[in-house]
Amino acid sequence: MVLLDGQALAKHKESMLQEEVARLDVVPVLAVILVGDNPASRVYVNMKVKACARVGINCQLQHLEDSTPQSKLLEILHALNANSSVHGILVQLPLPAHMDTREILEAIAPHKDVDGFHPLNVGRVYSNSLLKGFLPATAMGVMQLLEHYNIAVKGKDVVIVGASNIIGKPLASLMLNAGASVSICHILTKDLSIYTQKADIVCVGVGKVGLVGPDLLKEGAVVVDIGINKQGDKIVGDVDFEAVRHKVSYITPVPGGVGPMTISALLQNTLLATQTALWERSC
Ligand code: GUN
Repeated sequence: MVLLDGQALAKHKESMLQEEVARLDVVPVLAVILVGDNPASRVYVNMKVKACARVGINCQLQHLEDSTPQSKLLEILHALNANSSVHGILVQLPLPAHMDTREILEAIAPHKDVDGFHPLNVGRVYSNSLLKGFLPATAMGVMQLLEHYNIAVKGKDVVIVGASNIIGKPLASLMLNAGASVSICHILTKDLSIYTQKADIVCVGVGKVGLVGPDLLKEGAVVVDIGINKQGDKIVGDVDFEAVRHKVSYITPVPGGVGPMTISALLQNTLLATQTALWERSC
């Protein structure tokens, strides 16, 4: 079994990003908006802020109260869209229940949408027309990790457990674009094992501790664990790592697998947004 070491790869990517950021004529600016006090969101945003600092991106965090009206958030987004010194905008999800997530995501200018959640960027991924636009960070991180370890996707049977707009659906699109046969399983899937037992690559990210054990996997499968769960004072994924480790060929640890790759993909998108803005201004 080989560990897919996202921590090491992300560190390497960060050092390259840092060099590229230093070569720019401007300091990239990423506006991050956190609404409310979801503890997990606070942790994720904190990690993003710190990662930006490591590579020289100016991350401007606005922390809004849970009761902030949607109209106020829209107003902030319109101002950030119009501000040419801001290159990327990220609204941390989930938003409070009184907000319409789709309307908020659609209000972010597509060329600053470093999360890749605006419908225009979603469509670009779906239709494999990626000359412009941004890939959602987690899906991008997973693909980069597999590529780094020379794990071929073309012609493989891939199962993705989790059909969210943030992870499962974009990852399925990227896998399909790369030539895999893709099954997407979710909460209503009657029998997960029917899909996963024949899969060459299983990607799981639903937030359920121990969901994937050895009985769900074929010998030599590649396992990508996107789950992040708190278990006591430990962070664990959705895969029972100890139980499956001797059955799989490759597996991501949690923590230290997909998580760091997601962060470095966000940094890469912010650099891309900045480079594109500079290039367009010079034309
Ligand atoms: N919440 C969980 N993952 C993400 C992400 O990748 N981006 C944003 N904006 N919110 C999230």
